[in-house]
Amino acid sequence: MREEEHALEQSRDVIVVGAGIIGLACAHRLAADGRDVLCLERGEPGGASSRAAAGMLAPVTEAEFGEEALYELNIAAAERWPEFAQEIGAAAAGYRREGALMVAGDRDDAEALQRVRGLRERLGIASAWLTGKECRELEPGLSPRVPGGLLAPEDGQVDPRAVCAALVRALGDRVRGGAEVRHLDRRSVTLAGGEIIRAERIVVAAGAWSGDLAPVSVRPVKGQILRLRGPTVCQRIVRTPRCYVVPREDGRVVIGATVEDKGFDTRVTAEGVFRLLEAAREVLPDVDELELEEASAALRPGTPDNAPVVGEVEGLLVATGHYRNGILHAPIAADAVAALVAQRDWVGTG
Ligand code: GLY
Repeated sequence: MREEEHALEQSRDVIVVGAGIIGLACAHRLAADGRDVLCLERGEPGGASSRAAAGMLAPVTEAEFGEEALYELNIAAAERWPEFAQEIGAAAAGYRREGALMVAGDRDDAEALQRVRGLRERLGIASAWLTGKECRELEPGLSPRVPGGLLAPEDGQVDPRAVCAALVRALGDRVRGGAEVRHLDRRSVTLAGGEIIRAERIVVAAGAWSGDLAPVSVRPVKGQILRLRGPTVCQRIVRTPRCYVVPREDGRVVIGATVEDKGFDTRVTAEGVFRLLEAAREVLPDVDELELEEASAALRPGTPDNAPVVGEVEGLLVATGHYRNGILHAPIAADAVAALVAQRDWVGTG
């Protein structure tokens, strides 16, 4: 079929390239606004980094020192989640705000956590220092060696696999897997098979691969993550400077995640698995009893300042670079993209 015949076949209001949680949320929001949207994914929708993600909604505890500019955005994103979860089916999303307990594995960690406490105070979300005994009253599975910790009641979680599945269901034939974009410009995408699809706006939401499609500086940051199941090891998210342990309602436990600059490498390594298990069992010894179900590795989209890139770049819209906060930012990124498509004023912080 010739190019112009392909072009006649399909023309949309908006094409979203990438069906991870950011692309899916953007497409869902655009569809709710009445746009004729098509979301394209070269693999399985929701099948790459979003599938590996733990799904923590941790506006402050996931940010690092020096990323203070992100807190305001993160907090706004966390506030948007309850409504977004309702929109897609709260039960399906696995949305819970049970808080996180940040614990020290040793005295060095305790000092680091005291600095976190100071930061939280400056942000107006002070947390009292909990002794080891107080931590164990909250989480009886904690090791007697834990010297203390901090509670972050604002933290919560969703199940990213369930969220993506709900978005894919809601989008129906407006999301297409196995559709690799070979080339794009401001008004069209060309798929690997030669099909050309035109649209009024193109949104690049291709995570760590966004730099191949749009002029944005995004690098892959590898994270290895484990999924286990068995007797309950904790009631709420437990974090240390070396890992996080996220208990799911169905008895599964997610332990993550490494942070590695290894390019586009998604191999699960013995060292990665060992380090995560070592870090988790240091504070929650009953992790030893769990059955290891899955070990995976995925790529976070990192940017030079760890802040997301959501906006217009050379005539394209981009929503990428969410680094450690892709799940947290999905609803607010979708709102921003929908506002840009509608050419509404958007006052964002990211
Ligand atoms: N937000 C979890 C991670 O990046 O590991």
